Amino acid sequence: MTAVRNLSISLVASLLVVSSGCETAKDTPTGDDATAKKIYDGLRPTCGGCHGENTNFPIFASATAFQVLILQDPSWVVPGAPEESEFVKILRGEATGQFSQMPLTGDNFATLAADGKTAISVDEIEELIRNLDEQPSLPVESDRSLPTVARKSGDQLLRSLKTQVGLSEDVFFNEEHSGATSGRFAVLDPDRSPMRNPGYGEIPKSIERYIRLGGHSYLEGRRGNTEINPAFVQSLVVLSQTYCRLGITRGDGVLSEATLADVSSDPAGLSKIESNIEYLYLRMLGMLAKEQDKSELLGLFQHYETESSTEDAWTAVCSAIVRDPRWLSL
Ligand code: HEC
Repeated sequence: MTAVRNLSISLVASLLVVSSGCETAKDTPTGDDATAKKIYDGLRPTCGGCHGENTNFPIFASATAFQVLILQDPSWVVPGAPEESEFVKILRGEATGQFSQMPLTGDNFATLAADGKTAISVDEIEELIRNLDEQPSLPVESDRSLPTVARKSGDQLLRSLKTQVGLSEDVFFNEEHSGATSGRFAVLDPDRSPMRNPGYGEIPKSIERYIRLGGHSYLEGRRGNTEINPAFVQSLVVLSQTYCRLGITRGDGVLSEATLADVSSDPAGLSKIESNIEYLYLRMLGMLAKEQDKSELLGLFQHYETESSTEDAWTAVCSAIVRDPRWLSL
């Protein structure tokens, strides 16, 4: 239990990244963090306007958001292999997905760069990607106790998450929301029939997400996988944040004792926030929060509350709970 507990703290500490304006990176980033910052700084003048905080795809909300959503997502960036990285292709106007180029309109990034209109060149970006660590660093890697903890299967994980944050399937497949964040992060079981399109051509990515979470497919003869590998951890980070945020804005499971208007600087607000943390802990982990858990989560809440908003703060609290190994293993 102690091992699991330590692991929980290190997971919570190292995966705390909310796609928002706040920078969680250290003052002088090193290694891949530094690479992320360089590419992010170089691209932001060109791309930031459409991909900042509160946009559908907030990859330029912060260097950390860029790192988690792009650099650590193997469907965008293959560390060490820029030529295989879809993200580089989209900069060159050679992507085969929904969008062939970025920026969305006008010249593609490579053309703008060749004309000297950007802060970084495609060659520089390629060189940085070539030097990224082969294996994205996994915070839990060194913890030998991990493989002995069985985790929820892909299906169990998605089902619990949706139920706990109070979301219905409709949120993901509603016409009204197609093209919004909800569609982008839908996860599709490829065996489901008929498949409904959750947004602009998102089916392949949604299935890929399902596979990365360890989902099985009888039709494709693929067994479920309950390993905790880098692809799983990365998918879970993005998924927990997105589902928690959707749960806060469109669901009815995350906020019960407090509202987004409650702030911790007000004593009445603070007590509602504390009650909601207890409520959420019990709802999601099925156990009473100890004083230490409560104060850790409150600290986390307050960090994001001051840096950005109560919505980000609750997203951080909810996704920290999802990434607790006890949540994963229950
Ligand atoms: C004029 C606005 C605009 C600019 C500038 C822009 N984008 Fe986009 N980008 C979009 C829109 C719209 C989408 C679709 C998703 C969404 O709704 O946000 C998108 C989607 C993407 C996607 C996902 C594509 C996919 O197939 O799912 C990536 C990656 C991306 N942009 C990267 C960039 C990068 C890198 C830059 C700068 C070189 C950039 N964007 C500049 C508007 C823009």
